[in-house]
Amino acid sequence: MRKQQHFIKINEINNDTLNGLLLKAIFFAENQTSHQLKPEKVVASIFMEPSTRTELSFKAACSRLGYTYLDLHKDRSSLVKGEDFLDTLDVLEAMGAKTVIIRTSDESLIDDIQHRTNLNIINAGSGKTHHPTQALLDLVTMKRELGRINNLKIGIVGDLLHSRVANSTIDLHEKLGNELFFWSPKGFETKRTGPKVNHVSSDDFIKELDVLMMLRVQFERHENIAISNSDYHQAYGLTPPRLSLLKENAIIMHPGPFNRGIEISNEALEDARIKIFHQVQNAVPTRMAILQYLMEGKM
Ligand code: CP
Repeated sequence: MRKQQHFIKINEINNDTLNGLLLKAIFFAENQTSHQLKPEKVVASIFMEPSTRTELSFKAACSRLGYTYLDLHKDRSSLVKGEDFLDTLDVLEAMGAKTVIIRTSDESLIDDIQHRTNLNIINAGSGKTHHPTQALLDLVTMKRELGRINNLKIGIVGDLLHSRVANSTIDLHEKLGNELFFWSPKGFETKRTGPKVNHVSSDDFIKELDVLMMLRVQFERHENIAISNSDYHQAYGLTPPRLSLLKENAIIMHPGPFNRGIEISNEALEDARIKIFHQVQNAVPTRMAILQYLMEGKM
């Protein structure tokens, strides 16, 4: 069996590799590189949960690198006829794929298959636990917007319980030694702790932050929500009074998609410090860096 290289969890990727990918992503973001067509380099994706940003940015990244991209959607595939997932991966490999990008709600699927396929696996979001490529592109955004990735104070607000982005972001910033502040309504809290983790109970901490990351309320992962949308917005949303607490040179991030008027106000979305669409722009070069590393061993 070929030795695969995966990109599944931040904690399984060493710091040198993460740093190399960060620099390569910034290079791709700031230089219009041209790549020869390499149709024999085949990347496949299997999305079993909805996506706009992740799926399209991987597709765009493949296109910019000259690769062939095969996209399989569960509902239109033979998976719905009962084809085994590993047999499906064998089909993709037989079509020339070397890497597969997987998004799934199943927390254990990627762990179960990672040693049973010849394909490199990129985790494009698994359940509530991991979204490593989002964490890396958010780091690229911090580096490009703030000029540094260390000595940061980062606040993460909202539905931490269900957020795979938050989990991968926490993994990454624990490695970097950054200070983290978590603020969530009852029933949305994470149990994660750490030497530089602060669980806070009021919005005062916003004044100290370099980065304020707002999270989507993941309605599809809650059985019931005890707080109304308007109460949530008043109590935990990024409203004009909370915006006024934030330093002038801080940035506001959100992995998207956002619930306008729930976790984030129209005023915040129009604020000069908001970087949501910078995050989207950085997604393509970041995913190019990851793909080129796995497909060609280049960094
Ligand atoms: N941030 C993110 O993963 O967005 P999509 O669900 O649109 O891919």
